Amino acid sequence: MNKALRKAVIAGNWKMNKNRAEAKALIAEMTPLVKDAGCEAVICVPYTNLETALEATRGTNIHVGAENCHWAASGAFTGEISAPMLAEMGVEYVIIGHSERRQYFGETDATVNKRMRAALDAGLRVILCVGELLDQRESGITQEIVSMQTKVALGGVTEEELKRVIIAYEPVWAIGTGKTATAEQANEVNHGIRTVVEELYGKKAADGLTIQYGGSMNAANAEELTAQPDVDGGLIGGASLKAPDFAAIVRAASR
Ligand code: PGA
Repeated sequence: MNKALRKAVIAGNWKMNKNRAEAKALIAEMTPLVKDAGCEAVICVPYTNLETALEATRGTNIHVGAENCHWAASGAFTGEISAPMLAEMGVEYVIIGHSERRQYFGETDATVNKRMRAALDAGLRVILCVGELLDQRESGITQEIVSMQTKVALGGVTEEELKRVIIAYEPVWAIGTGKTATAEQANEVNHGIRTVVEELYGKKAADGLTIQYGGSMNAANAEELTAQPDVDGGLIGGASLKAPDFAAIVRAASR
């Protein structure tokens, strides 16, 4: 379809893994393996590894992201990190609204929207995560849930700003469980998201939007998933912690 109009992005989400030495070693191992990537390769790492990752990826084709940011630029928010702090370091991407933040840290669609605003204002690129719970899928309301999450998160985002947004469809039941959505399920929901974006911003913006799939994507299933017409790469948790696996996914999405 219009796949050629947009860029495939494979982003690793390291979550709360890897100390500094391990981060350095992983990046050193993956750098030669992804250097000829035909898609964009991103690693989203814990705050404590950002400096290490920025240094280790300098001069390579690997982009660096954080896993969250606060919605205020600064202030009395003990323990939080702001978007301008990330941007000032040279961080390019930030994940917003990951389901683990929603599940364990009280993230709501409204706070996702505030963080989106802050990240875009700071000049960052955003990987916005949306996705349904298992009981929501079983109730047949997947598309409604994902549409609502998308609409609220994008509230106030202009068409120009949307160029710095990637959406990652991550069914919550598929994250870290080894259960992957089928390629058809992933494509169906991604297509639904693109339709919502088209309603909000028009066809050109929707055609240009990178929409990833995430949830137990690995070296074995990445090719089938990323070949789907509406799946433009992936957000990778577990498999991004092993350089050969991450590189295999990058290669699969490069085809
Ligand atoms: P997983 O995680 O690949 O380990 O399922 C994906 C994610 O949480 O982004």
